[in-house]
Amino acid sequence: MSQLFIRGGGRLRGEVTVQGAKNSVLPILAATLLTGDTVELRGCPRLRDVDASVRILESLGCEAHWEGGCLSVDTAGLKGCEISDRLMREMRSSAIFLGAILARQGQAELSYPGGCELGPRPIDLHLSGLRDLGAEIDDAGGVLYCRAPRLRGREIVLSLPSVGATENLMLAACGASGVTTIANAAREPEIVDLQNFLVSCGARVSGAGTSTVAVEGGQKLHGCTYTVMPDRIVTATYLCAAAAAGGEIFLRNAREEHLSTVTAILREAGCAVSADAAGISCSAGERLQAVRPVRTAPYPGFPTDAQAILMAALLRSRGATLFEENIFENRYRHVDELTRMGAHIRVSGRAAVVTGVEALHGAPVRCTDLRGGAALCVAALAAEGETRISEICHIDRGYEDIARDLRALGGDAVRV
Ligand code: EPZ
Repeated sequence: MSQLFIRGGGRLRGEVTVQGAKNSVLPILAATLLTGDTVELRGCPRLRDVDASVRILESLGCEAHWEGGCLSVDTAGLKGCEISDRLMREMRSSAIFLGAILARQGQAELSYPGGCELGPRPIDLHLSGLRDLGAEIDDAGGVLYCRAPRLRGREIVLSLPSVGATENLMLAACGASGVTTIANAAREPEIVDLQNFLVSCGARVSGAGTSTVAVEGGQKLHGCTYTVMPDRIVTATYLCAAAAAGGEIFLRNAREEHLSTVTAILREAGCAVSADAAGISCSAGERLQAVRPVRTAPYPGFPTDAQAILMAALLRSRGATLFEENIFENRYRHVDELTRMGAHIRVSGRAAVVTGVEALHGAPVRCTDLRGGAALCVAALAAEGETRISEICHIDRGYEDIARDLRALGGDAVRV
């Protein structure tokens, strides 16, 4: 099993081009099923989760191959409608394929996606919305048997702005007759990217980025060439790395409008952050200030995916910061590992209080989940000595090559 070795204590200096967004390209890969054509995805990140999605597409009779940084997907050969339990277990967000398979094949069969490191990951909103569109869904013994001979558009109201449910229902609605509106839709930038992709394929979708998304179904969709948006959580990761270690970096292609709650907090902590059309610059001094309470919330609130990463950046700050994790039940699993490096963090339910310490020290730590693993990298850059990070397969789900990028930013990071 590979491990990361990071020697901290030095300031960062350098620049890197931010990879394409994992949480945008995954629903877009599901959406390619709607076209029955060839789609060229430029800037598609090479990630374990992308590989898992490609395996699902290939298991459904589709073809995919890489040409440089571009992933070409041909879904003309789509056959069958089943995602195997093995493939579902590889990536629980594979539920995102359900809407597109139903829209194209009229039926779908997949095992219930299990929970993950972050806690139970229900899909009740996905299923109730699909039933609203006319799908019949039986969940017998952990397998979902879905039939939708005809999907009919109508108004759907989500009880909470679920990202995955919004995306799944946008895709199913493309295959429904008539107009579907999704009220209380998620507003994340990845939803806007999905809408832009669908429109490039000839779909009639509008409202993404607001709480109401409208889809006029029944359009014949075709392939396209599409450039995936930059990954805002990878951007947040590298900004927090500079904040933690000090120094100055430039992130090419990063777009501040996608993570303004993160950059606002970094400025409050004492970083100088500036952005232009080319990307985001960030410089930080020796020690940050603690900040006002950080409460995770659906977009445009503070992103839950950046909670562990920002926490790592504040471990040596002056003062104490309160975190409140309001999206997932079990998203403080990185705390014990950060404590091994000398961090002072107290967790009580959804709250965690980080009290800044003078210094962190390297230690052997292990990744507990994707963003918790990224947080360990951020903390290691600010720690004296060497940190050995194991179980980095979690990090590989969302970062193309975090050691390569941290080295480009001036960090001492090696994958062995
Ligand atoms: C997406 O997950 C992202 N994943 C997550 O990123 C991200 O943390 C999350 O949105 C929130 O922004 C992808 O896009 C692949 P949700 P998703 O549905 O769609 C509850 C990362 O690190 N819920 O918005 O699963 C759910 O339990 C990952 O890149 C229901 O109750 O998130 C959670 O508490 C981690 N019923 C909340 O809603 C449902 O049917 C938000 O979930 C669906 C969700």
